[in-house]
Order: sequence, then structure tokens, then C-alpha cells
Amino acid sequence: MQLHAIILAAGQGTRMKSALPKVLHPVAGMPMLGRVLAATRAAQAAVNHVVLGHGAGRVRDWLQAAGYEDVVTVVQEQQLGTGHAVQQALPQVPDGALVMVLYGDVPLVRAETIRQVAQAARDGLALVTARLPDPFGYGRILRDGTGRVCGIVEEKDASPEQRAIDEINTGLIAAPARRLKRWLSHLRNDNAKGEYYLTDIVGMAARDGIEIRTVAPASIDEIEGVNDRAQLAHVERRFQLAQAAQLMRDGIALADPARFDLRGTLRFGRDVHIDVGCVLEGEVELGEGVSLGPYCVLRNVKLGAGTRVEAHSVLDSAEAGRDCRIGPFARLRPDAQLGDAVHIGNFVEIKKSTLGSGAKANHLAYVGDATVGERVNIGAGVITCNYDGANKHATIIGDDAFIGTDSQLVAPVVIGRGAYIAAGSTIARDAPEDALTICRAREQRTLPNWKRPKKKR
Ligand code: UD1
Ligand code: CA
Repeated sequence: MQLHAIILAAGQGTRMKSALPKVLHPVAGMPMLGRVLAATRAAQAAVNHVVLGHGAGRVRDWLQAAGYEDVVTVVQEQQLGTGHAVQQALPQVPDGALVMVLYGDVPLVRAETIRQVAQAARDGLALVTARLPDPFGYGRILRDGTGRVCGIVEEKDASPEQRAIDEINTGLIAAPARRLKRWLSHLRNDNAKGEYYLTDIVGMAARDGIEIRTVAPASIDEIEGVNDRAQLAHVERRFQLAQAAQLMRDGIALADPARFDLRGTLRFGRDVHIDVGCVLEGEVELGEGVSLGPYCVLRNVKLGAGTRVEAHSVLDSAEAGRDCRIGPFARLRPDAQLGDAVHIGNFVEIKKSTLGSGAKANHLAYVGDATVGERVNIGAGVITCNYDGANKHATIIGDDAFIGTDSQLVAPVVIGRGAYIAAGSTIARDAPEDALTICRAREQRTLPNWKRPKKKR
């Protein structure tokens, strides 16, 4: 049977108090809806349907931008209940399919659980249930004298005895499309909320003598829904802790798994060490023996073996070779490319520049739109003046050049191999190879009768 996933995402998410539709709020850098779609894809769903409502346009835009053009969307104009929501998608589902209903705001559902429920629903109906110490707010699972599931009663419709039941409906439910269509056509909304409850199909299935199976989630995290910012933060932390645990099993050393955030994917060699408070985004690759000091931020970064990044460095869309030393307080901006054994020290900013192996910029420098040769030494306070107010220009520095402290290189400009630029020079014309070039406003003088200025009274 082909699996069709129907993901409910029409709710407003009022309690988020946000302009962003709830299912687009990210968990570990990915919208919640994306996490659910990733799980249904991994569970080999043939077609994914998303039922949209509030913020439908923005959710559609995101689906498009994220490459989910194959997702079938339908808009539920009025949110008349979960049963009504599923009905909106059913015309697009062939009778021979198996339908799995999921929520767009329950982001940590696992592919394995989806597979299990799909398997269990083949000749009947299956749902994921859990026992909670505090079942308040959830639909309760009703079982008959022999322990068979015979229905679900919602919190608001439940009697005090039923409210004492601690087995709850998580919302994940699956059934063959043909049966589901029939049951849903009989739904009524004569209940406490005046809604068409999807959960009423369970009682109908029981009356039809259909086998109803329940599946338990691997952990409570999997069924946790997000209605407000506190729940979102909670789900984020659960995800991060589980991810950190997996990374440590795979061999990474984390100083504190509770103070590590990965919002993307991380590939790493042996003996990589990450100190507290680091945030890694996008695709990050760390070679063998790489270490990250405390509070570093890396987005789409690749670092070669043995490279050390010291505290409080920010690296964005940058790459470094082996045995580099970066930071503390370094900033690599997009298209910074460092060779091997490059040293980038504190308050040095590198943008769209290549630095050859062994090059050093140890303190307070800006290098932008530059090609820097091997073993070049860039002194403290050196600035590439790459922007004339309208256009960007390139600076080229040959191998083994030495750029004295507090020099400005006014681009476009070429500094020859082995050139030596005297400290405090403003270099606006090319400087030849292997020679000292100096350009200061004036030779140093001392004025013997000079008086120190005084404050005005
Ligand atoms: C639902 C279940 C309940 C279960 C609980 C688990 C029903 C009737 N009840 O209750 O048994 O314990 O989830 O969290 O199914 N939605 C739509 N369109 C609608 C209504 C809802 O898309 O017309 C979406 C919501 O955005 C949300 C999900 O469906 O993602 C669940 O809806 P919600 O109103 O939160 O259901 P609950 O009352 O929590
Ligand atoms: Ca809910």
C-alpha cells in the first residue's frame, strides 16, 4: 500500500504571539513542518499532503523555497476540527492508499515510529498512544473489558472517570484511505467543542469490528506538541540533547552537551573537541583534532585537521586548511579561504579573501577582496581599503611580503613578492618586489616650542 501522509498545519498558533505561522518556527534551524516532512520522507511516504490555513501563503512560499514542490497542499478555510482538516486532503488520496495523519506542530516524530504505525494499520487502524502522569488536555484512550481500544474521548467531553485515564492519543493515526473516507463522511460535530473530531473514527472502527492497534513512541519527546514559546524552547533543548548524545557516541568531545547547539549537519574526524557555548549552523566539517574554544559561532564552515579556533570567534561561509590558529575574537566572513598554518588573531576580519599557507594577521586588521600569498605577515592595524564608496577593488599581496603595522592598502593595488611596506604607510600605487616602500605624510619632526593644549574654562 502506498503511504500518503496528511500533515495538519492549519491552526493559528495564537499562543506563539508571532507573525510567523507556527509550523515555520524552527527547531534546530529547520521549520517544524520541515522536520515532520523529513520524517515522513524517511519513512518512504509516497505523497505528503499539508493542510494549510492560517498563514497558508507563507507556508507555501517556504515549501517552494525549501524544494518541497512535490508536497500537495490544500487550504482549510475554516478550522472546523481535525476530522474536517483531514477531509480536505482526502479527495487527493487514492482509495488504495494507506493514510497517516500527523501534526505540523509535533516536530520530533521519528521515521521509525511512522513506519511502525503504517505497518500496524495495514489491516485495520493504528494510533500512537502514550501514558502520561498528567494527561490533561489530551484525548483519552477508551478500552473495553478485554483491553481492546474502543474509542477516544476528548478532554472537554470526558466524564471525571474518563479524565482519570492516563493513556492519551498523541494524534498520530493511520488507516487505509477507503475506510477513512467512509468513517469521516459520518462525522458529526455535536460535541463540547462543536468540532469534527478525527478521533471519533476510532469508535466507528471499533463498532465495525476493525482491529485497532496501538504503538508506543520511543520517547515522550517524539509526541511533544508546540503551542507556545516555552514548549518550543523545550522541544529545541530535547532535540539538541539527543543530537549531542548521538554526536558523542560517534566520537566527538563536547565539554558540555547541555551547552552545545547544532542547527544543521556536522561532519567530523577523530578527536574533535568543542568547548561550551558553541553554535554550529548549516553544514560544518571539522577535520581530525580540530578544537573550538568557548562561544564560537560557525556557519557553513570547513576546517582542516589540527586547526584551532579560540574563544569568541565567528566564522561564516569560510574554509581553513590544516593547523591554522584562529581567534580569539576573530571574524571570518563569507568566502574567507585560509591555507595551511595560517594565523588569524584577535579583532581580525577577513572577507572574500584567500590567504596562502603560513600567512599571519595576528591583531586588528581588515582584509577584504584580497589575494594574500604564502608566509605574508600582515601587521596590526593593516586595512585593505577595498571600497571606494561605489565599487569594490582587489588587493594582491605576493608571497613573503611584510605589511608594516597601521598601513592602508588602497585597492586596486599589487604588493610584490617579498616587498616590505613600512609601518604607517598609505599605499595607493603598486609596490615592487623585494624592496622597502614607505609612504608617510611627513618625516618625523619635533617642535621645541610647542605647548600642550589646555581645556577651555
Ligand atoms: C488533538 C486530538 C487529541 C489529542 C491531541 C494531541 C482531536 C479531536 N483531538 O486535540 O485527541 O490528544 O490532539 O495533541 O483530534 N488542526 C487543523 N485544522 C483544524 C483543527 C486542528 O489543521 O480544523 C491542526 C492544528 O493546527 C494542530 C492539530 O491539528 O496542529 C491538532 O489540533 P488541536 O486543536 O491542537 O487538537 P487538540 O484539541 O489538541
Ligand atoms: Ca493541541
